[in-house]
Amino acid sequence: MTALRRLPAGLAHPFSPVGRSDPYPAYDWLRANDPVHFDVTTRMWLLTAHEHCASALKDPRFSAALGQRERVRDDDLPASMLTTDPPDHNRLRAPGMALLGPAAVRELAAALTAVVDGLLDGLADAAEVTRDLGEPFATGVLARTLLVPREDEAAFADLARRASVNLDPLAGPQAAREGRVAMGELTRFLDAHVAREPGGAIARLAEDERLTRPEMLGILSLAVVGGWRPLAEMVGNALFWLLPRPEALAALREGGDELARTAVDELLRLEAPIPFTARVTTAEVSFGDAVIPAGARVLAVVAAANRDPAVFDRPGDLVLTRSPNPHLAFGAGTHFCLGAPLVRQAGALLLRGLAERFPAIRADGAPPAWAPVLVPRRLGEFRIRLS
Ligand code: HEM
Repeated sequence: MTALRRLPAGLAHPFSPVGRSDPYPAYDWLRANDPVHFDVTTRMWLLTAHEHCASALKDPRFSAALGQRERVRDDDLPASMLTTDPPDHNRLRAPGMALLGPAAVRELAAALTAVVDGLLDGLADAAEVTRDLGEPFATGVLARTLLVPREDEAAFADLARRASVNLDPLAGPQAAREGRVAMGELTRFLDAHVAREPGGAIARLAEDERLTRPEMLGILSLAVVGGWRPLAEMVGNALFWLLPRPEALAALREGGDELARTAVDELLRLEAPIPFTARVTTAEVSFGDAVIPAGARVLAVVAAANRDPAVFDRPGDLVLTRSPNPHLAFGAGTHFCLGAPLVRQAGALLLRGLAERFPAIRADGAPPAWAPVLVPRRLGEFRIRLS
């Protein structure tokens, strides 16, 4: 094993209360000085270089199934693609493509435009970003994708909010219990809803003979748990970078679809809503001189990898036209985010719509502060004015 290195005194641990708000100084130090780092606080290995994160996420010796099982709360969750390794994973993921793949998202294009237009039409001049924009955006996008009846959207949003505590692999036992209860309720809600909605991608999924009904419901509930909160928070995270930069907003207004699409990826690179993801090694793995033993818990810290100067020119700057942009905010390899086409399509519509309709959009009051939570990365209260 490599020599144990500690973060210098004075640099907040990225998971400490101070570090949670601004983990980047610690990530930068780790990436530069100890990119394969054994963290004595969590007893986990932290990978912070792009090269190592990308390689671990594509390497079958880093098991996602074991990574998830390590989590205290997962005993009751339905089987899902995120909690399985190949070959079983393929059986669950392939039908998931029917729901979330590029063809399914093309089918949804008009519905997504209507969600964004309806949301922007209904905004008052003063708004709180997550409550008035991010959460209704996430609810609308997922409700149209999963064909949740409009009258049930409020109940759906409530369940999605409560179940999203399952996103954080480091959350405590109380949150775990609440997450488990919410997950059961969400699964029953989806079960009832899927039973009475004929037609479309959901019906195709329900009829897929490769899946049992609990597995089918596992895919749907994973889409909600994995998708709702990250979608909601990406809006504030994006506006945090955009509002102080009128030139970026002007570029979005004038740059058309193409720029809106590269902008979504660039904003996710800078503030990944899911900053890390957990694995467990099934065999010893070496990265240069560093040796990770078998059975070790590993976090691929994609938020650190996304600012790696070895891969990204001007890594701390917002470059809306950045392309290619090999960021890892959607993960990589086997478990690459199945919702990425949906996020890109809906995110581009929202960013462009906001910039075009509200040329005077700006922060209202002091700049918002980052909430001291790990997953998802998100802001505290963020008030804006639209005109
Ligand atoms: C900004 C929004 C989002 C971000 C940043 C994000 C990020 C991620 C990441 C990092 C992973 C990989 C996790 C791992 O390797 O352990 C992942 C997987 C996944 N995401 Fe997303 N996600 C987002 C939105 C969504 C949405 C909207 C959906 C569904 C509607 C979704 C569905 C999934 C699914 C099903 C997986 C598991 C794929 C697999 O295991 O094969 N995500 N996502």
